[in-house]
Amino acid sequence: MMTTKTTIRVNIPQDAYDVRIAPGGLDYLGAWLSAEGTPLVKPGQKVLVVSNPVVFELYGERAIASLTQAGYQVCQCILPAGEQYKNMASIEKIHDAAYENRLERSSAMVALGGGVIGDMTGFAAATWLRGIAVVQVPTSLLAMVDASMGGKTGVNHPKGKNLIGAFHQPRMVLIDPQVLETLPVREFRAGVAEVIKYGVIWDEPLFEALEAANRLDDFTEVSDDLLQTMLKHSCQAKADVVSQDVKEAGIRAILNYGHTVGHAVESLTGYSKINHGEAVAIGMVAAARIAEAMNESDWDGAATARQQVLLEKTQLPTQLPDGINIDEILVALKSDKKVSEGKVRFVLPKKLGEAFVTDQVSDEGARRVLKAIVTE
Ligand code: GLY
Repeated sequence: MMTTKTTIRVNIPQDAYDVRIAPGGLDYLGAWLSAEGTPLVKPGQKVLVVSNPVVFELYGERAIASLTQAGYQVCQCILPAGEQYKNMASIEKIHDAAYENRLERSSAMVALGGGVIGDMTGFAAATWLRGIAVVQVPTSLLAMVDASMGGKTGVNHPKGKNLIGAFHQPRMVLIDPQVLETLPVREFRAGVAEVIKYGVIWDEPLFEALEAANRLDDFTEVSDDLLQTMLKHSCQAKADVVSQDVKEAGIRAILNYGHTVGHAVESLTGYSKINHGEAVAIGMVAAARIAEAMNESDWDGAATARQQVLLEKTQLPTQLPDGINIDEILVALKSDKKVSEGKVRFVLPKKLGEAFVTDQVSDEGARRVLKAIVTE
């Protein structure tokens, strides 16, 4: 297991914070939060740890021991695992725990889990007493490289994913790569989908490092060096982008590469059959092919093929699931929150390491590409 520690600064004015990548770092959670002289959360304060039963069973004790040792009064709220629980009822449960434990303005919440726990804890913290501190301790690769950073928090509405939410930056993000040892392989691959995304939209050397790897489909087959590169480059890419555009008024939208079709696929398959990373993988195939067909950039068939090789090496799906209705996808695209003035915004690659946003993709163009990637 790699031993190198890295800290990446997310330079958001008034809200800057560190992303610490540190093997074994879970045991230093309390110490880093209470750092002498400049504590991120004052020792003695209440800290509500929010997690799910699976993650809490594995890592709850260590997180709580570390926080208690640093002098915090620790309480906990355990929510059922799964995207289907990412709703307002769960937020109410976190707020109930905050009320019962008398969390104050100077208290904090710690999200110990994957993207669902991170998004919900962030939103509960953003809204409790009009905003208290949140610390993100992501335990899935996907949450490490994407969801835990950048301050997007929220829950799903019955009519659509992440429709309810707020921007609320964490005080710290603590990434302990050792916890990936217990991550189910399918979840690991979902995280790699987002890493490939950064390679395509921002970081060509990252893309090339992924190309050089023999395998990307299993954590145990990925070298320490490569894992370090994946985490460091992905987090740096996200930090670079969000610090330029915190509220997604412009460039931040490129982080949604693969997510336009991806969100539609997730919602049409009921958020259960296909996970987020898998849906994004299919969405990246669609976006790459649309870019190729539109012929408005340097992106060509060879680049689409290189992306395809990486997705296949990760054993991610690259075709739309059998039985999915293309008309329904086109309707779903228009109800996504990324729609502006009725036009669907696609993120398309320009060349390896660069992407742009466009609302010029015709329904016909999208339909042609989607038809071409239906499972035969
Ligand atoms: N996950 C995309 C973003 O944070 O903007």
